[in-house]
Amino acid sequence: MSTAKQQVSDLLPCPVVFISTIHGEKRDIMTATALFVSEKEPLLTVSVAKRHLTGKLIERSGTFTLIIASESQKELALKLGSVRGDEEDKFQLFSIKTLPAEPGKPLVPADDSAWLACRVISRQDIDDYYVLLARAIEHKGFGNPPLLWQKGILFGLKSL
Ligand SMILES: Cc1cc2nc3c(=O)[nH]c(=O)nc-3n(C[C@H](O)[C@H](O)[C@H](O)COP(=O)(O)O)c2cc1C
Repeated sequence: MSTAKQQVSDLLPCPVVFISTIHGEKRDIMTATALFVSEKEPLLTVSVAKRHLTGKLIERSGTFTLIIASESQKELALKLGSVRGDEEDKFQLFSIKTLPAEPGKPLVPADDSAWLACRVISRQDIDDYYVLLARAIEHKGFGNPPLLWQKGILFGLKSL
């Protein structure tokens, strides 16, 4: 049963991630969420608005790096979710400290919880969104506690 005021997206808590992209000279990073598809295979899905620079760079490169945000990245999550990459280079604008850059690969902010280098294996066009199924081809975790999101509020994770 749903009431008129409730939105499905308000009911479902989700991890906060950053999607970092590069194609040629252009790079970008935005806040998003993600869902794993299988525990056996390193498969995950993300949904990216077609109008975002992030969506365009993924369309061109077929790859992205998914960064699992940590509790210490609360401010960064809000900043990267509110500025458009086609208007500003967010790495410069917010002076984001990154792990050492690797040529041709998306930049990864320092102090995250984990990163996963992903290759898109299929794409569904649903209204204004690309729903992407991707395979993580490389990953590294740092053990920093992850950041979660529900109804526009950021949370930490606690064991029960
Ligand atoms: C917590 C949070 C989660 C978000 N999740 C998504 C998402 O899953 N997909 C999406 O397209 N935009 C999402 N956004 C909005 C984008 O981060 C935002 O529109 C961003 O400015 C787009 O950046 P770009 O224009 O550089 O690609 C989210 C924003 C926040 C704050």
